[in-house]
Amino acid sequence: MQTGPYGEPMTKHLLLGQTLGFSGNPLLEDWADVVDFDSAGGVLIDGDQISAIGNGAALLHDHPDAVVTDYQDALISAGFVDAHMHYPQTGIIASWGKQLIDWLNTYTFPEEARFGDRAYANDVAERTLELALAHGTTTLTSFCTIHPQSVDAFFEAASHRNMAVVAGKTCMDRNAPDTLRDTAQTAYDDSKALLDHWHGKGRAIYAITPRFSPTSTPDQLAALGALWSEHPNCLMQTHLSEQLPEIAWVKELFPQARDYLDTYEMFGLLGERGLYGHSIHLEAREIARLAEVGAAVVHCPTSNTFIGSGLFDLMGLAKSKLAIGLATDTGGGSSFSMLRTMAAAYEIGQLRGTALHPAQLMWLATEGSAAALKMSGEIGHLGTGAAADITVIDLQSTPAIAQRTDRANDIWDALFPTIMMGDDRAIKDVWVAGVRQA
Ligand code: GUN
Ligand code: ZN
Repeated sequence: MQTGPYGEPMTKHLLLGQTLGFSGNPLLEDWADVVDFDSAGGVLIDGDQISAIGNGAALLHDHPDAVVTDYQDALISAGFVDAHMHYPQTGIIASWGKQLIDWLNTYTFPEEARFGDRAYANDVAERTLELALAHGTTTLTSFCTIHPQSVDAFFEAASHRNMAVVAGKTCMDRNAPDTLRDTAQTAYDDSKALLDHWHGKGRAIYAITPRFSPTSTPDQLAALGALWSEHPNCLMQTHLSEQLPEIAWVKELFPQARDYLDTYEMFGLLGERGLYGHSIHLEAREIARLAEVGAAVVHCPTSNTFIGSGLFDLMGLAKSKLAIGLATDTGGGSSFSMLRTMAAAYEIGQLRGTALHPAQLMWLATEGSAAALKMSGEIGHLGTGAAADITVIDLQSTPAIAQRTDRANDIWDALFPTIMMGDDRAIKDVWVAGVRQA
């Protein structure tokens, strides 16, 4: 039995319903071989962890002391893990009419300039985490702004909720407004102070965060590469090969680089714990190097259609053995919902000639993102020993969905309409570290 901070016994909870977990990667193996589905399942929570999973009636019999919540035919899943987003862009989500570089200059940079104000940063951090939980997302991986206080605001808001989050100060020392520029030295110093303070504190994980190579000088990239080599347990997050004009610009700025990835690789910013957002228009050498070092790419499908970036090659990259996370990329992404994000991944898959199975989509939003963050088995996993970060999905959340699921003849037929048409109304309940969210 787990005990609380004063040695007191902690309540056990037993959640009953349909349970969905995974024992392998359905992008690489037959999905039917790696799915653990039980239409009458149970999840036992002891303290902040899942301590058992199995048949609901058997768990009920073995644990008569547990407090039972019966979700009936709702689906109990690991909480969703968003592997790339920008909490400072919450207020500008769904801004009209621009592609990447114009979108950054017109909407994003003016908004990010406001995060020097700690009260404003607190407000948006709180709002973003509430929106995430309302949409069933229990882990966010966020860029902050150049202001250290924007990082403090986010980690503090997450720690009040005991959420596992990844974040870092976004570093930029060129091609950005004066008010949003740091230097190579201050990027190093501020990032170091922040990671010394936050990395591993509670559930906080620090990611060293050069925004993307157009907004960092070689000196800044080298400073952040050095910092990563001094703190190899941190993650590193950035953007890679999102739009064709961006890639042409990178090649102009770094004429000596072999390709876009090389602008990171040259400066020590390619590694196993690296997260490369978008990665749409990759060249063969880039794919080979990312696979070789075990780095992760992050698919941001609502953003890729919204900003007009291109069609991510999910199946091709999975076959090349790249780790792939799934993400909203708000506010370039147009939704806080990982259900809507799965739907967009499905649509992009269709445009590339591959119909992703609902099991593959759910895996990407949980296990896939957790693997990208190098947190497999800890989060995004409905299994013994994982954090009790759990999302319960109502498969009949709107009349339009319910009339479709009425005729479903298996769990996938019942779940797919919610993936395609669902939103926060489909999130029946969320648990974070064993605590049910009000
Ligand atoms: N590339 C550099 N910065 C950003 C950003 O904030 N959003 C997106 N989608 N791409 C970027
Ligand atoms: Zn992004």
